[in-house]
Amino acid sequence: MKFVITGALGHIGSYVLRQLPLAYPDCDIVLLDNLMTQRYSSLFNLPSTANYQFQELDVTEENLEPYIEGADFVLHLAAITNAAGSFSIQEEVESNNFRATKQVASACIQESVPLLHLSSTSVYGTQEETVAEDCSESELQPQSPYAETKLREEKYLGKLAENSDLKYVICRFGTICGSSQGMRFHTAVNKFCWQAVMRKPITVWKTALHQKRPYLALNDAFQAINFIVEKNLFNGEIYNVLTDNLTVNDIVEMIKIHVPDLNVEFVETEIMNQLSYEVEDKKIRNCGLELSGSVGACIKETIELLEGIQNSHGQ
Ligand SMILES: NC(=O)c1ccc[n+]([C@@H]2O[C@H](COP(=O)([O-])OP(=O)(O)OC[C@H]3O[C@@H](n4cnc5c(N)ncnc54)[C@H](O)[C@@H]3O)[C@@H](O)[C@H]2O)c1
Repeated sequence: MKFVITGALGHIGSYVLRQLPLAYPDCDIVLLDNLMTQRYSSLFNLPSTANYQFQELDVTEENLEPYIEGADFVLHLAAITNAAGSFSIQEEVESNNFRATKQVASACIQESVPLLHLSSTSVYGTQEETVAEDCSESELQPQSPYAETKLREEKYLGKLAENSDLKYVICRFGTICGSSQGMRFHTAVNKFCWQAVMRKPITVWKTALHQKRPYLALNDAFQAINFIVEKNLFNGEIYNVLTDNLTVNDIVEMIKIHVPDLNVEFVETEIMNQLSYEVEDKKIRNCGLELSGSVGACIKETIELLEGIQNSHGQ
């Protein structure tokens, strides 16, 4: 088997590239990343059970066909991903992320390789209690430039597939939690774990404490990716993938189990609405996907990973 991962050194990619050889021993894995976020450490101590090939390149600029040729699928993760930070770099996010998807999809068509494209549940914004993939157009209310671009990429792939042989599937992932070699800390759960361990107040967006949002454990994210590959589910559909819908308050309570003396501080953000909703993931679960991850376990694991900091901090 041969797999290609764009944005391979990031939070999700650095986990997936270590899990794939467990499921597919001796596979070839091509890792593409421009090191925009400097996650060199994702390449440290790679397992010897796969044949890795790393290429430092910008997927918006290079001809990707030679790397993709003969692959079983492309997992497209390359993107600028800081949603809250995307307001000040709107054009850069649109230019990088949209062009990356365009370029990767074009290479997939040329080489007849299926594409697994990652979108985000942040494309939703609904007054209803729950929202699913078949929601009305008015319930697609991206709250940041990052999420707006995600929605445009989805629509682009849909149109492209109508006029080409593109085989693809889109997963709208909930906010990722759980540790990996290239993990980042600007999303809710990880940032809160870091702040808690550093004995800093947990900075919660003013409107967010009791709003439900979807979260996805990293091991569940891999289960979903592997499920799609095994089932050859490159059927042009969009699937929500999540472990649980939780409020920030739920997350704070889970962190308190490990760090009891927590303070919460409310902060302003440009991503603010009053909406609280659950995202449904029945569509992919009805295809047979079973998930076993838990956000609580991810929090425990992340805090344990950081505990050394707490100890040396307090000395
Ligand atoms: N982490 C989450 O909570 C989450 C949730 C939903 C969807 N997603 C999506 O999953 C994908 C991966 O997320 P992540 O958390 O691993 O992100 P990340 O920011 O940790 O990693 C992204 C990687 O892409 C690379 N990259 C960016 N632009 C590139 C380019 N033009 N060419 C080559 N490499 C480039 C970066 O260097 C980085 O290593 C993204 O599309 C993201 O939007 C993430």
